[in-house]
Amino acid sequence: MNYQNLVTEIRNGILYLTISREKKLNALNKETLTELADVIAFVQRSSDVKCVLLTGAGEKAFVAGADISEFSSYSTEQGEALARNGQTTVFDAIENSAKPFLAAINGFALGGGLELAMACHIRVGADTAKMGLPEVTLGLIPGYGGTQRLTQLIGKGRATEMILTAEMVNAEKAEKMGLLNHVVPLSDLISRSEEILNKIMLRAPLAVSAAITAVNAVYTDGVNGYETEIAEFGKRFGNKDFKEGVSAFLEKRTAQFKGM
Ligand code: COA
Repeated sequence: MNYQNLVTEIRNGILYLTISREKKLNALNKETLTELADVIAFVQRSSDVKCVLLTGAGEKAFVAGADISEFSSYSTEQGEALARNGQTTVFDAIENSAKPFLAAINGFALGGGLELAMACHIRVGADTAKMGLPEVTLGLIPGYGGTQRLTQLIGKGRATEMILTAEMVNAEKAEKMGLLNHVVPLSDLISRSEEILNKIMLRAPLAVSAAITAVNAVYTDGVNGYETEIAEFGKRFGNKDFKEGVSAFLEKRTAQFKGM
């Protein structure tokens, strides 16, 4: 994989995906979004990749938002298309990925950067991280799912206040709100994230994907999440990994899952 704005490396099942426009605080320009869409699609079809660790280059920013310089002269239609394309190809694609994405937030996660982190399944923050949705300072609102996912994660009252005031929260507060799963010193960010992903990779991959689908169903309009859970639960009985999991338990050994 050869990208202009992303650095990728696959090691022991983890795709290390680093957004790399450090001089622009890793802001998401069009090219970066296109590259992200490409790599997200690759993740789904690669048998080498079991999960993704997404972070930003440098120590200052995860992602400081969408690239403001690119949309300064957009029309209403162009603005809507920007949000729609981004949501479909990147943000929703991450949320609905069959393989888990973990955001390792190494600094500012603002606007599209926080939206990117919120589309991931798990968020680990460095103690230096700062998060917010400052779009109203630009005369905009969040366009990559921020109004929806922040509300889902921290509740309507707190999400509305964060969005209307455009205030940033620090890592400690974000963890208390449920916006971050864990806060660690910056130097431990990658190792703590790897620890979580390594644990997930010991589990049955199809069960992991099914759990993502069922949890996402809570927030999908017109879908009964309980029905989704019942159907996904039932399907697992047809997987070889189910037989392996049960046999391993009964034989008091570690299961060796094959993703089948
Ligand atoms: N889009 C485009 N460029 C951005 C950017 C963004 N979202 N965020 C930062 N940059 C660029 C700056 O323009 C600057 O580029 P330059 O050196 O060519 O002038 C560079 O990144 C460094 O940013 P700077 O503002 O000088 O750093 P700072 O430490 O003073 O402030 C922030 C850091 C994050 C507080 C500030 O950059 C900021 O508010 N960024 C915009 C956040 C935002 O509104 N995001 C939502 C977009 S919808």
